[in-house]
Amino acid sequence: MQRVTVCLPARSTTYEIGIAAGLLSQLGENVRGCLGSPARRVVIISNPRVFDLFGTKAVRNLRASGFEVSKWLMKDGERYKNLRSLEQALNFFIEAGLERNDAVVALGGGVVGDLAGFAAATYLRGVDFIQIPTTLLAQIDSSVGGKTGTNLSGGKNLVGAFHQPRLVVIDTDTLRTLPRRELTAGWCEAVKQGAVGDRKLFDRTVRLIRSIDSSLGGDRARGARKKLELQTEVYATELAATIAAHCRFKASIVAGDEREAIDREDRRSRRILNFGHTAAHALEAVTRYRRFRHGEAVGHGMLMAGALSKNLGMLASGELELLREAVAACGPLPRANDIDVSALMRAMKSDKKSVGGRIKWVLLERIGSARIVDGNEIDALALRAALRESLRDTS
Ligand SMILES: NC(=O)c1ccc[n+]([C@@H]2O[C@H](COP(=O)([O-])OP(=O)(O)OC[C@H]3O[C@@H](n4cnc5c(N)ncnc54)[C@H](O)[C@@H]3O)[C@@H](O)[C@H]2O)c1
Ligand SMILES: [Zn+2]
Repeated sequence: MQRVTVCLPARSTTYEIGIAAGLLSQLGENVRGCLGSPARRVVIISNPRVFDLFGTKAVRNLRASGFEVSKWLMKDGERYKNLRSLEQALNFFIEAGLERNDAVVALGGGVVGDLAGFAAATYLRGVDFIQIPTTLLAQIDSSVGGKTGTNLSGGKNLVGAFHQPRLVVIDTDTLRTLPRRELTAGWCEAVKQGAVGDRKLFDRTVRLIRSIDSSLGGDRARGARKKLELQTEVYATELAATIAAHCRFKASIVAGDEREAIDREDRRSRRILNFGHTAAHALEAVTRYRRFRHGEAVGHGMLMAGALSKNLGMLASGELELLREAVAACGPLPRANDIDVSALMRAMKSDKKSVGGRIKWVLLERIGSARIVDGNEIDALALRAALRESLRDTS
């Protein structure tokens, strides 16, 4: 098993992320080891699709370690990450008799993890929380770092809390049933972490994506239908090790900037993880959140930020090419060449996450090295040209 320890000096807290194929079969003992004997009860939050796949195993395993287990299933989909679901979850905790020593377990992707984490953060002013992420995106990104929350009708992730899990259990076998598009979205976020983190992580990620792709026969048409099939031990081992490397990277950033301080703009600030996200959020907004999985939009968004970096003379063409190849390896992305550049620029300006109405762009100096640049310092023509170039390339 791969282990990553997340240290949060500001809270004098640490927790473990365990990563291995088949780890769900040790769930009970790991949760008991982490929570100790006072915990009697856990509530699993999941959705019907994920619970059908892994719920029985998780429940059986937790019961074998002496927990009373109940489950609350939210509807599947981003639009159910809302206050209504939160309220239903909290009311369920009361019905289930969840007490201060007990815990909430999130079994699912980022939607379930964010909602369950926020419910755990607020119920009785905070109970323990365990993450079992089952999408690639959740395994490398959303389950690490303690950001929890829900959407509001006015925008995504506008309400929430920092609530770190006590334990993260990553069973890489869960990825076998993940639809191809979800896998592509996860790989895009992995490429992002490599691009802003370090070149070794980037290269390792791209190598793994390519090797898995060739194990699928390298045929894109067929690959689009097939799921992740890790035929050999080698892939399984490398997959777990690469996911661990991503968790380690994200954990190291979070450790130094847990709450994403607004005034931080250095290379180790949490904000660098937003590479590709300024354009991605705009792409998602102009297509009304219907066309792209978030990670797919990040795939396009990284190429836009990369093209902008190049146009501003920061990034060499060869490096942008590497980024393009990496994004292409992640899998096919929905087209974006019909999207209007002006609409995209307007959507960027109204992004709720801008600070004081100003956009902070995360740009690249080279693969593995990001720089945060104030939107005011970016020439509108250079931006327009970068967006146009990148959109044109997405057929
Ligand atoms: N908290 C953070 O730091 C953070 C970071 C990034 C993203 N997020 C949030 O994460 C969410 C996106 O998460 P996501 O991409 O995991 O999407 P998701 O949770 O919607 O999962 C995607 C789909 O895959 C299904 N699924 C999950 N696991 C499966 C499995 N093993 N096999 C088959 N199907 C499976 C789900 O039911 C869902 O239909 C967004 O709400 C985003 O805001 C949070
Ligand atoms: Zn993202």
